[in-house]
Amino acid sequence: MTDKKLKIAIGADHGGFRLKEKLAEALVSGGYDVKDFGTFTADSVDYPVIAKAVCEPVSKGEADLGILVCGTGIGMSITANKIKGVRAAVCDNPYSAKMTRAHNNANVLCIGERVVGIGVAMDILHAFLSTDFEGGRHQRRVDMINELD
Ligand code: RB5
Repeated sequence: MTDKKLKIAIGADHGGFRLKEKLAEALVSGGYDVKDFGTFTADSVDYPVIAKAVCEPVSKGEADLGILVCGTGIGMSITANKIKGVRAAVCDNPYSAKMTRAHNNANVLCIGERVVGIGVAMDILHAFLSTDFEGGRHQRRVDMINELD
């Protein structure tokens, strides 16, 4: 992505907070401007609440990208895609993470802590952050998605 310090909103429910903590730590070490919307404990919390908190700043342009973690990543992605301007993709491999940036201009990455191990999750995160949107013919398709907002 660009040279500017990317603003990243991150959050998780109780099923994803352990992985979220590790991802947030890696992002801070990598020099990103990270805002962590919780949760911070294993106490049960409803994933739509966290998804909304992370995606609203993305929708408003206050964050460049969002990262959401729950048990599967699925509940987070379903919720995130309800929010205007958000294109969320649940990824369980680095190739999908790369392609959803390149072709879908995804701005929210969802990961399932109960699906992938820490090593794969880190590779997914890296692939997502290091890939730019290709534009061109993909822009027209993303515009078509955006028209559905
Ligand atoms: C919580 O048990 C679990 O349902 C949640 O983390 C997520 O996987 C939902 O999609």
